[in-house]
Amino acid sequence: MSKENSILKINNLQTSFFLEGDNEVKAVDGVTFDVPKGKTLGIVGESGSGKSITAMSILKLIGHPGKIKGGEILFNDQNLVESSEKEMRKIRGNRISMIFQEPMTSLNPVYTVGQQISESYSIHQGLSKKESKKKVIEMLKLVGIPSPEKRINQYPFELSGGMRQRVMIAMALACRPELLIADEPTTALDVTIQAQILELIRELQDELGMSVIFITHDLGVVAETCDYVAVMYCGKVVEYADVKTLFKNPRHPYTVGLLNSLPRSDMDQEELIPIKGTVPSPDDMPEGCRFAPRCPFATDLCREKLPNLDDIGDAEQIRCWIYTDEWDGDPEVKVYEPQK
Ligand SMILES: Nc1ncnc2c1ncn2[C@@H]1O[C@H](COP(=O)(O)OP(=O)(O)OP(=O)(O)O)[C@@H](O)[C@H]1O
Ligand SMILES: [Mg+2]
Repeated sequence: MSKENSILKINNLQTSFFLEGDNEVKAVDGVTFDVPKGKTLGIVGESGSGKSITAMSILKLIGHPGKIKGGEILFNDQNLVESSEKEMRKIRGNRISMIFQEPMTSLNPVYTVGQQISESYSIHQGLSKKESKKKVIEMLKLVGIPSPEKRINQYPFELSGGMRQRVMIAMALACRPELLIADEPTTALDVTIQAQILELIRELQDELGMSVIFITHDLGVVAETCDYVAVMYCGKVVEYADVKTLFKNPRHPYTVGLLNSLPRSDMDQEELIPIKGTVPSPDDMPEGCRFAPRCPFATDLCREKLPNLDDIGDAEQIRCWIYTDEWDGDPEVKVYEPQK
C-alpha cells in the first residue's frame, strides 16, 4: 500500500445484493485500497467487476436489496461504514462528491440547473445570491455549456444527455470537494470536451489539493491522469500499483490481459488480444483464484485456494500465487518481475 498520507483507506469492504431465494450477489467481495491525499487513483476492470458498487458504497448510496456487509471505509480516519445517515449528508456533495455513470439519477428533476449548482455556493461556501449566480455561470462555461445565462433557468429534462453530464460535473466540482469520485465521467462526451473536463479536474486538483478516484475503461486516460491504479476482478482488487509500474511491469496475468485487450491511442486495433473466456457469473464463482479458469498459468493451487492481496515492495500489492513462495507452477512465468 502507498506510504503517502491517505485521504481514504478501504479495508476488506464487502457489499452484497440479496436476491430472491437466498441468492447473494457479492458485488464487492473484500476490496482493499488507499487513495493518497491530493492524488488520483484509477480503478479499472471489466464490466461487472464491482467498480461502481465500490464507489457507491463509499457514499453509502447502496439501497435495498443491497447492503454493506463488512469492512471499513476510513475517510480522514472517520469510518463511513459506521456513520449515520445524518453524518453522511454532511459529507455527500460537500466533502466527497461523485460524478455518476448515469447522470439522470443524481440531478433533481424539480429544480433548475442554476438552483442545483448554486446550492453548493450559497449553503456550503456562504456566498450571496448574486455572487453565487456569477459563479454558477462561470462553472457552466468551464464545463463547456453554451449560453449558460439561459441554461441556468432550465430543468434537467430540458437538456440533452451530454449537457446533463456537464451540469453534473459542474455540480460535483462547485463544492470543491476533498475527494471527487468520477465514474466513467466523460464517456458520453465528445473528445474535445472530455479533454477539457479532465484538464479542469487536474487544475482543481492542483489548486485545492483534491484527491480523485477515477473509474474508467480507457487505459489511455489512466496513463495520463492517474498516479495509482487498482485493477478489479470479480469484486476484488487483484493488483494495486503506481501508474508507471503498472504499465511497465504489470504482474497479475489479468492486468497483463487487460493491457493487451483494451484499445489505447498508442496501439493499432489489430494488435489487441482479447482475454479468453468470460467473467464468471456471481452464482458460479470459482473457489480459488477468480481468474484461474481464464489464466494461462493456472495450477491446481490456483484453482483450489484463493490467494491473498500481498504487499510487494513499497506501494504495490498483488493477489496471485505466482508471486508467493507457494507457487508450484512454471518458475519462468515470473517474467513480470520488475525490471531494474
Ligand atoms: N441492484 C443490483 N442487484 C443485483 N446485482 C447488482 C445490482 N447492482 C449491481 N449488481 C451486480 O454487482 C456487480 C458489480 O456491478 P458494478 O456496477 O459495480 O460493475 P462495474 O465494474 O461498475 O461495471 P461497468 O464497467 O459495466 O460499469 C455485477 O455483477 C452486477 O450485476
Ligand atoms: Mg460501473
